[in-house]
Amino acid sequence: MLLIKSGTLVTAEGSFAADIRIDGEKIIEVGPGLNAQGAAVLDASGKLLMPGGVDPHTHFDLEMFETVSSDDHYTGHKAAAFGGTTTVMDFVPQLENGSLKAGVEAWHAKADGKAAVDWGFHANITRLNDDVIDEIPKLLKMGISTLKMFMAYNGRLRLQDGEIFRVMQLVREHGMLPMLHAENGDVIDVLVDQALAAGHTSAEYHARTRPAWGGVDAVLRGSALAAQASSPLYIVHMNSAGEADQLRYARERGVKVMGETCPQYLFFSEDDLAKPDGAKWICSPPMRTKEDNSGLWNAVAADEFQVIGTDHCPFFFDGTKPIDYEGKRVAIPGKELGANDFTKIPNGLPMVGDRLPILWTYGVGAGKITPQQFVQFTSANPAKIFGLYPRKGALQPGSDADIVIWDPERELTYGRAHSHQRTDYNLFEGWKLKGFPEKVFLRGQMIVDGEHWLGRAGGGEYLHRGLGEFI
Ligand code: URP
Ligand code: ZN
Ligand code: ZN
Repeated sequence: MLLIKSGTLVTAEGSFAADIRIDGEKIIEVGPGLNAQGAAVLDASGKLLMPGGVDPHTHFDLEMFETVSSDDHYTGHKAAAFGGTTTVMDFVPQLENGSLKAGVEAWHAKADGKAAVDWGFHANITRLNDDVIDEIPKLLKMGISTLKMFMAYNGRLRLQDGEIFRVMQLVREHGMLPMLHAENGDVIDVLVDQALAAGHTSAEYHARTRPAWGGVDAVLRGSALAAQASSPLYIVHMNSAGEADQLRYARERGVKVMGETCPQYLFFSEDDLAKPDGAKWICSPPMRTKEDNSGLWNAVAADEFQVIGTDHCPFFFDGTKPIDYEGKRVAIPGKELGANDFTKIPNGLPMVGDRLPILWTYGVGAGKITPQQFVQFTSANPAKIFGLYPRKGALQPGSDADIVIWDPERELTYGRAHSHQRTDYNLFEGWKLKGFPEKVFLRGQMIVDGEHWLGRAGGGEYLHRGLGEFI
């Protein structure tokens, strides 16, 4: 039994002084002046107590462009934990032969035994036929109630609008939630061909060949498909003010569409892609303009987005040069693969450990969002939408004791050393932070204590997720 005493609880509902009593893996009591009898006591005076972060969008150990994302289900989970996130959800690719079940088994083989925080899976549907249609409802028995479809990556991952509509109809019948990568694959293909033919091979052409209007069109089209299928919809990694406008438009008209944005779209722009090391910022969809940063912040502040996830999919900037990771030299091919051709730069960036510390200082500290919104976007809402609430995302009797003891006074200059992501760069290197996770508990076990890693590969539990709720 553990009693965390005299902290200030920060939840999606409010902030208040209270103690938390933990028995085994669960919170059993929350309130002021709890009796310490029989319990070890941890003094949290001056500290904030928050539910562990829930990141519903990661890509660990994902093969892409002749390489693999550089965090696996251990290193990525460890980085998540150091940043205060105790639950992650990873996307399972559909296999070449189409079988969803075999894909899920393959992803369990990668994650089971490595996982260091609790985790769940979403399924990617990238080829549709009668066998796949039969398999989709069976995902529920595997603990997967959510599936992602792509409107881009023609000839590889994309489904046609009619197929997306058919899947939406099907999953609606089972209470499942479709997720959408909203870009215009046809326009992207034309623009990429034209850019390469004109000899434009540098990183900024990644963004120039994926114009913002393509995302605006795709968000509206996806929302309209969901409306016609009477299905809810979750749109991942929304990156522009125009997309936020379409989300608002659809929600105001009663469409059950929910939106996720990510820190990279709040803090960075196409200008970063034009830097000599611009490949570090390449992900899909790309960064947009500074006006989009402000427009997205306005939509976040107005609660028009439901979630801030990460789309964590890291690669080395220079995968020919090893870094030290847990006493070993590690080098994994990365962004240098596309040094002469932006279409060969692996898409994705590191973010899973950065999300909470960066949003705390530059969101809450900067007065853009309240502490309640911080917990709502990064923990409570994803737990609700993805069928985990109040086990996750809450500090209530019966919730898992996933608790972050947050030091609101700690000041530091942030970077790779703090984030523990297994790559050779951090997009926030040198940023000044005030407020940082001090101790992190996963189901009652302390897994991070300051700079010390107390977690272990295999310490995470697979979350057999049920149906979530529309918020
Ligand atoms: O560039 C990105 N985001 N890579 C991950 C795959 C995806 O579409 O989310
Ligand atoms: Zn995507
Ligand atoms: Zn993604």
